[in-house]
Amino acid sequence: MGRLKRKKLTNALDRLLDKNAWKAENERREKALVDNLEKAKKNQVKSKKASSETVRTRPQLSSKDKILLVGEGNFSFARSLAENYLEEGSENLVATCYDTEKVLYEKYEEARENVEFVREFGGTVLFEVDATDLSKEVKKNRYTKIIFNFPHAGAGIKDQDRNIVANQKLLNGFFDSAAPLLTKASKGEIPANKSESRQVEDDIVPDGEIHVTMKTIQPYNLWAIKSLVKAKGVLAVKGTSPFYPDDYPGYEHRRTLGFKEGLSKGANAEILSASPKTYIFVKKEVMDKENENSIKGSLKRQLEQKKLKMGKKIKRKKVQHNQSDDDE
Ligand SMILES: C[S@@+](CC[C@H](N)C(=O)[O-])C[C@H]1O[C@@H](n2cnc3c(N)ncnc32)[C@H](O)[C@@H]1O
Repeated sequence: MGRLKRKKLTNALDRLLDKNAWKAENERREKALVDNLEKAKKNQVKSKKASSETVRTRPQLSSKDKILLVGEGNFSFARSLAENYLEEGSENLVATCYDTEKVLYEKYEEARENVEFVREFGGTVLFEVDATDLSKEVKKNRYTKIIFNFPHAGAGIKDQDRNIVANQKLLNGFFDSAAPLLTKASKGEIPANKSESRQVEDDIVPDGEIHVTMKTIQPYNLWAIKSLVKAKGVLAVKGTSPFYPDDYPGYEHRRTLGFKEGLSKGANAEILSASPKTYIFVKKEVMDKENENSIKGSLKRQLEQKKLKMGKKIKRKKVQHNQSDDDE
């Protein structure tokens, strides 16, 4: 075979090898792209799943809170707070119910023991307290948390519309009466020395909150609690969270009429099947301030990001400039 012929053959072989290598490389790249796309899709699903799952946190309640409970049933909620959250003492707990003491014990036989327990732990128990017209004794304090679990007028009204109106009236009256009793945030005095700093921490008072827990199925969702509050213009919705009865060991929900064998369900089955939710309300000005601060915070973050980007651009330009200097 002549030299020229051999050279041509080698070149053709090289080209064929190159072509195959190029094809293989292309296929590898395509596969990597598809794999990456699949991975990205999977990650997206994962992060969507993660963000839709709510993180469950323990309710933020402690002996430092000044707590008012209204519309208690058998006082098992008050007892559970004393036992599980107010380990340093229940002196700041005021637990109240609408019934007279006599009627309460007739309706709920376990209530007597629960009331005694709360009092032994230092809490105050008051009877015949109307949530829509809070008594003088209740009004002499300010509260960081005012809690009404499963409010219900319990008027036995069969007509749904009239029933809704009766319950909205109860909620309206409660908000009017409770809102002025919320604490206003205040800081403790500046400590003179380090040993006093703990005392100052104790002196810090947060803005008070009203917590109303309700079933979210019909007809309860027709009470339109958020709209009621907004229409008043005094309070604002700070947020909502699912209500987990087992956050309060020993708590047993009760109906207004008492525990009726055959009708009522034990172990909180009645509320568990109704997706209960806690609505948290604060004074409107508190929420306005919070919103203002979060807008300021996000603007600040945006500005910082812009500055960072600008800095990077300038740096890049300087590097390019220096490189072109070297080329000369
Ligand atoms: C469904 S029960 C819930 C009881 C209790 N909070 C619980 O979670 O087990 C509704 C409660 O609202 C109370 N209630 C109704 N009208 C009230 C009012 N005007 N003031 C205070 N409580 C009231 C009833 O006495 C009853 O205890």
